[in-house]
Amino acid sequence: TTYTEPYRGQFHFSSQGGWMNDPNGLLHHKGTYHFFYQHNPHGLGWDTMHWGHATSTDLVHWTQKPIALEPGVHPGDLWSGAGVVDAANTSGLREGAEDPLVVFSGTNGVSVFYSTDAGRTFKAYDNGRKVVTMPGTSRDPKVFRHAASKRWVMLVWSDEGGNGVNLYSSPDLLDWTFLSRYAAGWLFECPDFFALPVDGDRRGTKWVLTDASGEYVVGDFDGTTFTTDWDEPQRMDHGTNHAGGSFYAGQVFNDMPDDRVVQMAWMGGNQGATWTGNASFPAVLGLRTTGDGVRLTRQPIKELEKLRYRTSSWRGRGLTPATAAKLLRDQSLDTYEVEAEFDVRGATAERFGFKLDVRPGGDAGSEVLYDTRARTLMSAPLEPSRGRVTMRILVDRGQLEVFGNDGLASITRNVAFDPRADSRGVALHVEGGGVRLVSLRIHELAPAWG
Ligand code: FRU
Repeated sequence: TTYTEPYRGQFHFSSQGGWMNDPNGLLHHKGTYHFFYQHNPHGLGWDTMHWGHATSTDLVHWTQKPIALEPGVHPGDLWSGAGVVDAANTSGLREGAEDPLVVFSGTNGVSVFYSTDAGRTFKAYDNGRKVVTMPGTSRDPKVFRHAASKRWVMLVWSDEGGNGVNLYSSPDLLDWTFLSRYAAGWLFECPDFFALPVDGDRRGTKWVLTDASGEYVVGDFDGTTFTTDWDEPQRMDHGTNHAGGSFYAGQVFNDMPDDRVVQMAWMGGNQGATWTGNASFPAVLGLRTTGDGVRLTRQPIKELEKLRYRTSSWRGRGLTPATAAKLLRDQSLDTYEVEAEFDVRGATAERFGFKLDVRPGGDAGSEVLYDTRARTLMSAPLEPSRGRVTMRILVDRGQLEVFGNDGLASITRNVAFDPRADSRGVALHVEGGGVRLVSLRIHELAPAWG
């Protein structure tokens, strides 16, 4: 495959062939990032779940690898789960020079699979025996090293008495002890759990618990119990959030080589003749104090800059609807990134932003607009920050990611841009009055496929 079909993301990961859904077992090991994913290699729809596999050395350029877990070869339902590097060989699964890579999958109980050849092949531990079981329907184990208590921690989604997660701990990844249950009606499928510094560490560290649809709460974890004083979850992304939608089942990488928390999620929906679905572009997560409390931020990883090959810049313009419409008149682009900053103090415009995939008659495939009255960026609430609204927009052939005010708003969407054109118009749009453009940069992005 050459990755050139219509809607095929040029810098968004997709399976070379077949169906993909959730990211699984995200981990870093000795300079290589491993991305596994729910995969059906036999068709374009969800069926016979395998773990597909791809690797990267920079989180941007991915190489398709052979299937990692396969029904018939590996026992059980090979559904979503996590993976860790057992560098200290706590599991005793090491067989040679390589650190064991240990991954967790299964439904209604958790099975362990491991690799002793750096992720090339995986074996079932103890014939797939479930190392954790619980009443009711359960799935989607997330495992990570909890440094403070020097043990492994697992979360499993289950519906026992309503939605929630069970927490377990283990010294060796194989023998698990129940710690506590966190029950919450909102929490459905694919839990993820990680610590983040607040305001870049000026206000300590908090734990974030997320579910598949991208809802989250912020709280504390003492190694046994998660507590939060939040009554309602918040959304970390405002694209459409449902299975088959465009932001689902986000998971962060384990064993990162730096202190970043980097997440990829499943963007369902896009389909070509040979593939279905792709991943969101890796995003760095953070926590920031706002007027409404602590909120999660998502921003594209800085490695994206590797793909930039041509940049156009504009600075300091008072925009009216007419001058805005002229500014980008000649721009027609394929895959690109927009960085824009607007000063909204004294702005009279009702809406401003960008129209994408603008066709000769003026119709646009997508709009990325800030509404100054509703204070929303597309579907996401967003207050100006020090009088400014910023937009960072990643435009791929079938994928659109929008980040407002340094990641306080995140909107991940599938788009059906005109697949016949090899470049598409982009327009600056201002409506109902004026607004000041502080700066604008448009970077054209090269394809990430080798
Ligand atoms: C989420 C999900 C998970 C499950 C997997 C199966 O999209 O339903 O709960 O493990 O997909 O493919």
